[in-house]
This record gives sequence, structure tokens and C-alpha cells, in this order.
Amino acid sequence: MQTPTTTHFTIPEMPSTSENIFPVYHEILGRTEKETLLKQRSKVIWLTGLSGAGKTTLAKHLEVALFSRGFCTQVLDGDNIRSGINSNLGFSEADRFENIRRIAEVSKLFVNCGVITINCFISPTEDIRDLARRLIGQDDFIEVYVNAPLQVCEDRDTKGLYSRARRGEIKEFTGISSPFETPENIDIEIRTDLLSIEESVRQMLDLILPRIEFRG
Ligand code: ADX
Repeated sequence: MQTPTTTHFTIPEMPSTSENIFPVYHEILGRTEKETLLKQRSKVIWLTGLSGAGKTTLAKHLEVALFSRGFCTQVLDGDNIRSGINSNLGFSEADRFENIRRIAEVSKLFVNCGVITINCFISPTEDIRDLARRLIGQDDFIEVYVNAPLQVCEDRDTKGLYSRARRGEIKEFTGISSPFETPENIDIEIRTDLLSIEESVRQMLDLILPRIEFRG
């Protein structure tokens, strides 16, 4: 089954409400002080992939693995965030952009606090992932493609959403009636249909640990 293709989407102009606003950064304790306190270097670990590919499962196991090594982390997950801060957003292209824009901004706050975030968002197009990378900054952005073929995700159907999407009960469903573009700028791909959870976490740790370990 072919995934629908995307049209090129222009990031909407931010509403210009920043007049008469005076951001203060220099008097606030900085990231370095907080990283030193936590003895870690903060990064955003961005898990992209289809619904049901295993992003949240891997994030939970990765968080436990990092926590047990003394790292302070925060998992940000699509379903959780969409029931809180982003509860006003749906799944149109524009809303998905806004979803990811806000998440990227929130992630920057965590990074400035010295905390490592593990983000689980479909983030379905290259433009959307570019937006996140640009807002967070390339150096702080580790992109993980959590990949299982659409058919595998559909067979798993852990939330029952694929069958509902096939019946036409859910519109704009990623992989069925809304595109998912293969990520091109990834740091690592994890094939969850081929690897165990333990092996997946081990491969992610090999990549991530050298980038988060504190170097006095
Ligand atoms: S994203 O495309 O904007 O990055 P996000 O990761 O926040 O999506 O949310 C995806 C989750 O929302 C899915 O795991 C699924 O549980 C739920 N969902 C509900 N409707 C849709 C839809 N139309 N397309 C994809 N996911 C949906």
C-alpha cells in the first residue's frame, strides 16, 4: 500500500505578537551551570516514526536505562502532549506543524534546564523534522527513526486506530490517508520489527551516551 505523498508546505508566519515584549536571558542562570549541577549534557532525542512503530515503548525503556546510569530525563509523547498543552490541535498539516513547533520550543526549555528530553512524535515530513531541528539546533538534536513497515504497524494496531482509519472513521491518518516521508537526516534507524527492545536500547545508548556524558 502506497503512503500518500505530501505537498510542499510553507511554515506559516508566526503571529507577530512580540511587540512590546522584552525577553531577559542574561540575568538568568545558564544552561552550563545546570548541566554542571546535573553532571550531564542536555540533548533532545527525537524519535520519529509511524504510529505503532514503537516510539513510546522505546522511549520508556531508554529513559529507565538512562535514569539507572544517573541521567535526568523527560519523555514528551504525542498522545500526552495532545491531551494537554496541544489539546486544541488536530492532524491537518498546519496543526502538525504547530504541534511540533510548540514541542520544539518546550524541548529548548528543558535543554536550557540541563535536562535530556526523549520526544516521541510521528513528525511525518522532512519539513516538520527540519523545523524541530532548526528550532532546537543541530548540535542538540539527535534524530532516531523508529521504523517498522506500515504493514507491521497495521498488524500490531495497538490502539485500534489503523482499522478505524481503514474504515474511514479517522481522517488524515498517517500512513493511510496522510503522508509519512522516510527521514533523511537521521542519526540512527531502529528496526523494531527486527530487533528486541533490549537490542534497540543498546544501539541507542551507544549513540547517545558519548553525547550526554559530562566532561567537567
Ligand atoms: S504528529 O504527526 O503531529 O507528530 P503526534 O505524534 O503528535 O503526531 O500524535 C500521534 C498520535 O495521535 C498517534 O500515535 C495516535 O495515537 C494519535 N492519532 C489520532 N489521530 C491521528 C491521525 N489522524 N494521524 C496520526 N495519529 C493520530
